[in-house]
Order: sequence, then structure tokens, then C-alpha cells
Amino acid sequence: MSKTPNELGSVHHNPPLEVIVHSELDAHHAAASELSNRFPNNDGSATIAVYFGHDGVELRKASKPNQRGYKVDFLSIDSRTGAGNLSRKQPLPKAIGQSTTSVLDVTAGFCADAFRLSMMGYQVTAIERSPVIATLVEDGLRRAKENEAFWSAFGLNFTFMRGDILSGLTPEPCDAVYLDPMFPPKRKKSALPPGPIQHIQSLVGFDIPNETAALFEKAFEVATKRVVVKRPTYAQQYHQKPAHVYEGKLVRYEVYLKPTH
Ligand SMILES: C[S@@+](CC[C@H](N)C(=O)[O-])C[C@H]1O[C@@H](n2cnc3c(N)ncnc32)[C@H](O)[C@@H]1O
Repeated sequence: MSKTPNELGSVHHNPPLEVIVHSELDAHHAAASELSNRFPNNDGSATIAVYFGHDGVELRKASKPNQRGYKVDFLSIDSRTGAGNLSRKQPLPKAIGQSTTSVLDVTAGFCADAFRLSMMGYQVTAIERSPVIATLVEDGLRRAKENEAFWSAFGLNFTFMRGDILSGLTPEPCDAVYLDPMFPPKRKKSALPPGPIQHIQSLVGFDIPNETAALFEKAFEVATKRVVVKRPTYAQQYHQKPAHVYEGKLVRYEVYLKPTH
């Protein structure tokens, strides 16, 4: 049986948050009060602000609450096909598989990968356990769905769920399970990761090896055909003997196949 993150001794970040609401939307008020209760800024030490505004929910610096921050914007995803971002010849879709229909992303983050797969025509369910990240994703989805032309142009089949497959969430089986755990920190000092990943790091911390091993085990139970793991090129192979490996510039995708009977 898989262990839950707490049994594995993981330390979940619970950073205090400053929650700022400048929006009339009921959904924003409900989400803001949930976050304020979960991540109270009792001693005023919050460094991150979650800003609920008319244009959406943003992560901002608590010290500069009036400065624009980061929000999830699915409408701005590069939608070039051919040899572009949505080409199925990219390493990620190659790893997911040409004959795969349904994909479950169990470490969704801001859903950049999950949504891109959905725009490529896969049927995607994405799961994220950080309530702050999930709040930004849900707001991004609300705005994307408001743009009916965009949603129907791609015939999107995308479902987002809050939760954790290691703590009671039991999704429907699917062809491929995609795992993109937090990368282990680099030993040497190096360039900072791209903006969204820096935000995720500040909210949830780094890879916890025992936990990612449990996630892999669970992913293998849920997948009917394959598990795909994204790894930084500097990190060790995730598990023994992937069936295929697809290399990108900074990351690689390892494919583990389920045995066929
Ligand atoms: C590296 S990020 C994923 C980035 C994502 N692929 C994207 O394109 O935005 C890893 C995410 O997995 C989430 N996570 C880690 N373990 C999880 C679990 N057991 N269940 C759900 N989410 C998990 C973290 O909160 C974090 O947001």
C-alpha cells in the first residue's frame, strides 16, 4: 500500500501569505477567504501576496503589492503546430505516445504541460495539491473558458482536480500517467529556473525522494499503458531501465511501460 506524504515525513511548505482582494467576483472572495484561513499572515512575515483582481489571480511580492505579478494565462500558450510548440514531434508528446488517448498529470503545477497536451488533442486530467497553485489554475481556466472561440477551436477536453493521489484521491484509470515532480536542487550554483518554476519552488519546496518514489508506484497502478517522468538532464535516471528516453534541451522524458498480458 502506498504511504501518504505525512507518513513519509515530507515537510510541506506552508508559507504565510498576504491575501489581497480587489475583485467583485464571488468565486474570488470564496477562494481568498479559504487561503487566508489556511495560510495566515499572523506576524506580517509573508513574502508572497496572492492578489485577486479584475484581470485574474496573481502571485505578487508582498513588499510590492501594486506591481504586476504572475498569473496563469492559457490563452497566451504558443499555439503553433507544424514544427512548433504544439507539434506531436516534440519530446513530451513523443513520450506520452501517439496512440495514447487519455493522460493523467498527477503533479500538475500551473498546468503548462497538461494544458499543452490538451491543446494537442489528448484527453487530460490534471491534479495539483497546492491550494495556492490550484487557485491560480482555476482562475486561469475560468478566463480561458470565457473565451468560447479559443476553447472550441481546440476542442479541449481538460479536467482539473485539487488533491493528491497519495492522500485519498482516486482518479479513473487512464492510458498514460505523467509525473513532473519538483526537481532536486542543483549542487552547483546555476542560473535560476524559469519564472513559473521559481514561484512553484517558493510555494512547495523541492523534490522529496521518498515521496516521488511513492508517487511513481501509485502512477504505475493507475496507468493502463505507461508512466512518463520528466527529469532535469543533470538528475539521475528516475527508475530502473526506462523503455524509452526522449531528450529535450534541459530535461528528458523517461517512459516506463506497463507489461502487456
Ligand atoms: C515541477 S511542478 C509541475 C510543473 C508542471 N508540469 C507545469 O507544467 O506547470 C510539480 C508540482 O507537483 C505538485 N505535486 C507534488 N507532489 C504531488 C502530489 N503527490 N499530488 C499532487 N501534486 C503534487 C507540486 O505541488 C508542484 O506544483
